[in-house]
Amino acid sequence: MTVDQKVRQTLAELGVTESAGVVALFAEVCETMERERRELVNRVAADKAERDRACKELRDRWLARKNGLLSLVDERWLKKAPRELKPVVGQHFNALRKASEQLEVGVLAREMKCRVAASAGAVLEARSPIVAGTTVLSGVSPDLTLPSIRRPLGSMHPVTRVLREIEEIFIALGFRIETGPEIETVEYNFDALNIPETHPSRDDWDTLYVDEKTVLRTHTSPVQIRAMRKYGAPLYVIAPGKVYRHDKPDSSHATMFHQVEGLAVDRDITFADLKGTLDYFAKRFFGEKVRTSFHPSFFPFTEPSGEVAISCTLCDGRGCRVCKESGWLEVMGCGMVHPEVLRQGGIEPEEFTGWAFGMGVERYAMMKYGIDDIQLFFQNDVRFLKQF
Ligand code: PHE
Repeated sequence: MTVDQKVRQTLAELGVTESAGVVALFAEVCETMERERRELVNRVAADKAERDRACKELRDRWLARKNGLLSLVDERWLKKAPRELKPVVGQHFNALRKASEQLEVGVLAREMKCRVAASAGAVLEARSPIVAGTTVLSGVSPDLTLPSIRRPLGSMHPVTRVLREIEEIFIALGFRIETGPEIETVEYNFDALNIPETHPSRDDWDTLYVDEKTVLRTHTSPVQIRAMRKYGAPLYVIAPGKVYRHDKPDSSHATMFHQVEGLAVDRDITFADLKGTLDYFAKRFFGEKVRTSFHPSFFPFTEPSGEVAISCTLCDGRGCRVCKESGWLEVMGCGMVHPEVLRQGGIEPEEFTGWAFGMGVERYAMMKYGIDDIQLFFQNDVRFLKQF
């Protein structure tokens, strides 16, 4: 006889005359209820309407006032129980009623929703090691006393970290941060910077052209012109940002990387100010022990131009694999702003002088953290990134 049939008969008709029989009967009802509940929540319908309908159906089957299985138990078993069995039946009926609260539509729906989420989590878990261990829902009903789901916390990208450090040092010196577009005009990227029409850096082999008059900026120097035209002199700015070059990627070249540009324009600014500032910067960034050295170089937008090297951070200048036995690492280009460039920026070179520098951020991060492949920054491998 099924439970559905049993609840339609009285205890006497079922031949139950003592407590043991009552206990067994209620156990059977309870088990049936729990089994049906589990079957429902395990069905995990992703469609909400379908879930709601199934929940309501199960709830009504057991809890409907008229002809719900609990009402039948009340009428047939409890109300018609012989006096001596009333206390046991009453006690078990109360327990059954308490357990049946799990069949309320809201409770069922919530649990089914959790199941849907958990099974989605399981799919993710199988795919990605990042979310492994974040899915804790597995029991029949969620245990609210368990610690909550742990969301893995990200960390700052090493390039961002180094950018911020560089910015902080210059902000403390009174520089302001200025930005410019990554898609830049040929005028700002080359012409205004005194880079002649015939300069090899303009070549298709080195520059990514959007069209004839537009490029992906190859350096942050165009921000020099933008800042001079916007603010005039005196001016102290740094310009951090992405730059692009038509380079074949290898362990020291990437198509996109970051630079920080620096520009100081004022009355009586000399090369000594440039040296002092960059030496101070190098010591703040790499440590007090670091020495700087300046070599002549050439850039069309600075005159004179220089290349700055620091004593090798690994061997302290003695010579090693990293500095190729030279004891020095080249860290940036710099120079006194070319008078023509000041003029292009709307600043009178007779009244003002200035200096500028440009450095590659990835290279700084590589030196600071001992990283030997620039590609690691862009591969998004958490095993690499989570070390910072
Ligand atoms: N723009 C130069 C480069 O990308 C660096 C630089 C900036 C040199 C400012 C001098 C002055 O190589």
